[in-house]
Amino acid sequence: MDFKRDLAAAIAKAIGAGSGAEADIDEIFGAIETPPDSSLGDYAFPCFRLAKTMRKAPPVIALELGGAVELPPSFERAETVSAYLNFYLRREVFAGEVLAGIAARGEAYGMSDIGGGGAVVIDYSSPNIAKNFHVGHLRTTVIGRALYNIMNFVGYRSIGINHLGDWGTQFGKLITAFKRWGAREDVERDGIQELNRLYVLFHDETKEQPELEDEARAWFLRMQNGDEEALAIWKWFVEVSLKEFGRIYDLLGVEFDHFTGESFYNDKRDAVVDELRAKNLLVQSEGAWIVDLSRHNMPPCLILRSDGGTLYHTRDIAAALYRKREFGFAKALYVTAMDQNLHFAQFFRVIEDMGYAWAAELTHVPYGLVSLESGKLSTRTGNVILMEELLGEAISRTLAIIEERNPSLEGKEAVARDVGIGAVIFNDLYNSRIKDVVFSWERVLSFEGESGPYVQYTHARTCSLLEKAGTAPVVDIDTAHLCDPQAFEIFKLLHIFGEKVQEAAAKLEPYIIARYTVDLAQAFNKFYHDNQILTDDARQRGARLALVASVQLVLKSGLGILGINAPSKM
Ligand code: ARG
Repeated sequence: MDFKRDLAAAIAKAIGAGSGAEADIDEIFGAIETPPDSSLGDYAFPCFRLAKTMRKAPPVIALELGGAVELPPSFERAETVSAYLNFYLRREVFAGEVLAGIAARGEAYGMSDIGGGGAVVIDYSSPNIAKNFHVGHLRTTVIGRALYNIMNFVGYRSIGINHLGDWGTQFGKLITAFKRWGAREDVERDGIQELNRLYVLFHDETKEQPELEDEARAWFLRMQNGDEEALAIWKWFVEVSLKEFGRIYDLLGVEFDHFTGESFYNDKRDAVVDELRAKNLLVQSEGAWIVDLSRHNMPPCLILRSDGGTLYHTRDIAAALYRKREFGFAKALYVTAMDQNLHFAQFFRVIEDMGYAWAAELTHVPYGLVSLESGKLSTRTGNVILMEELLGEAISRTLAIIEERNPSLEGKEAVARDVGIGAVIFNDLYNSRIKDVVFSWERVLSFEGESGPYVQYTHARTCSLLEKAGTAPVVDIDTAHLCDPQAFEIFKLLHIFGEKVQEAAAKLEPYIIARYTVDLAQAFNKFYHDNQILTDDARQRGARLALVASVQLVLKSGLGILGINAPSKM
């Protein structure tokens, strides 16, 4: 059902016959355009580039080729408009092939094997222990999870890693504060909020008592030396934090294959330092050990502090080497805010300087900030919006909308959860990653605009049509009933689903799929608006229902890739 490739082959054949020269099918395939509007053809081939080799004016070439191309069976006609050759699909054949393709592959429709089973390690979410999980963390979490699904969909094997920020001098400070002013019950009860309070308190108190810094350093040293008491407190902070993060991950439906935080690399750092030294990459600077990156026009990468402590960079280098050894990845992606651009650029170069060609497969996937609409989102905690509160509010606002519109809906709570959470995720994924996200409840929860609820609502509409129609499967679909412009637009969209996921994988951009689901939902709603689906004419009804079933499947699949559930009723 590769209409475009069939067409490219036919054009190549005609060019070959006309000029005696072999024409390259791939090149022609690449040159074929998809006009924005079907009135200019479903595919168009511009003849400008042939002018040089064929030594004729492009419109003349277009005319000659138009007469010479032997159309593949799925095409109805070709038209020449100046230098363009416009090709029109035979709509009933096209519709039939798209439907058959979807029926044959079911939920696997659109999947490809571009990745050839290669491993892609995706480092995402990765929040810091004892710190709040805020809206900023939402982005890495949902973008990372979408990329995880996208890469699987195109035939890679995704491996999701949560590189928790669970090691560093801050834990010495936190233990100091806890020992001095904390109580076990308070941490048990208030979790991260209490840990945060202690951390802030530490910083306030050091202004008066600078010697607290020494105490903190001593605690961190004890952690590094394997001191039991220090490690037990630290471990407990990690557990308390993970319990809270776990609640958010449950709400978002996000999972990880590995929770290997920075502390996991404690016993792997010395080997990195040794290797860097052996490769003559370490130089001493003001008591610390660095890798000089001036030949890459970058500031130096700090590896060892003057007191022997290692750093964020060192742990990331150790992690990359470990992941390459352990998973033999084809690609490694790191999803973080763009303010870490330099960090990644630096440590990627260090790996390259160590002589590893696979440094080229390390990719930082940055994203923009989330800004909040004029304080409307602030909570008692000030301008830091906690994820759990935000998600809870999305659910309760959605429930209120359901109560208003469809109070008798079965399983309201579960639907409110799918739609409320889906709305927040969709809002985050609707634009190119690098763009900042402005959070507005009105837009996030709009059932009409370009939103998650709109797509979910359209999906639920397809489900209810299928349910009303009963389950009898339609065989022998008469696609002559599916040639109207609205149906044709839908088929064109269904046809490119796989290509869209491939494009999203190549660009590491989930928004391509988010936009696609909106386009498909809009196309379907136009069709639905203009056509009665459950008509009395059995053949017409059967054909239209086959279309509805295909839209249902692809909308659900697209939302699923984004990490959004598609309830069958709303
Ligand atoms: N914990 C870091 C933060 O919250 C993100 C870690 C990203 N992953 C990595 N391998 N450096 O900023």
